[in-house]
Amino acid sequence: MAFNIAIDGPAGAGKSTIAKKAAEALSYLYVDTGAMYRAMALYFLRKGISADDEAAVNAACEEITVSISMEEGEQQVFLNGENVNGLIRTEEVGKMTSATSRYRKVREKLTDLQRSMAQTTDLIMDGRDIGTSVLPGAQVKIYLTASVETRGKRRFLELQEKGVDCSLETICADIAKRDEQDMNREISPLRQAEDAVLIDSSDMTIQEVTEKILELVRERR
Ligand code: DC
Repeated sequence: MAFNIAIDGPAGAGKSTIAKKAAEALSYLYVDTGAMYRAMALYFLRKGISADDEAAVNAACEEITVSISMEEGEQQVFLNGENVNGLIRTEEVGKMTSATSRYRKVREKLTDLQRSMAQTTDLIMDGRDIGTSVLPGAQVKIYLTASVETRGKRRFLELQEKGVDCSLETICADIAKRDEQDMNREISPLRQAEDAVLIDSSDMTIQEVTEKILELVRERR
């Protein structure tokens, strides 16, 4: 049986950075499920579909195939065969993703794909519903969080480094809104699985969090 590590938590908690590092240390596959939801959202944006129009989103789901592959250790996500990795990290796509990932059809489309990967491969998968819904049997489950202020500051610095003009206040407000949407949706809301280990990374370094996860893996393998 494959060994699965599920990492869930709100936007900006550092899930992908830490999951990538831990996956590298373990020689496991790292699967970023947010990127899959983002690829779907990009399709809805391109089609001019409103996030409130569930019927249109459902219809569009029939036209979408999402897949991933690894290139030089980096996950690449494909939307109908097109590599959209470089197009899905914008704030616009992030907002559309949070708004449309609440729909059943969107979630079903990706959950099957995620489960089938985990069945045969040792991996670390991050997202919002991995420990609670996608992989309830994962051997290690982490709920990684940090305060809104900490997450906002991290995102602010990241965007500043990229030369993107932004305000810390707006970023914190966007993060709080995203949390609220992700935690309060009807299907697979973001929440800590009962058997998940809570890690608050507000006052921890990336290295410390990664080490803590590796320790849990060593205990349970
Ligand atoms: O992790 P991220 O910021 O790339 O995720 C973008 C959005 O996708 C997030 O607001 C909620 C949604 N998402 C989800 O609903 N379920 C997942 N497993 C992963 C992401």
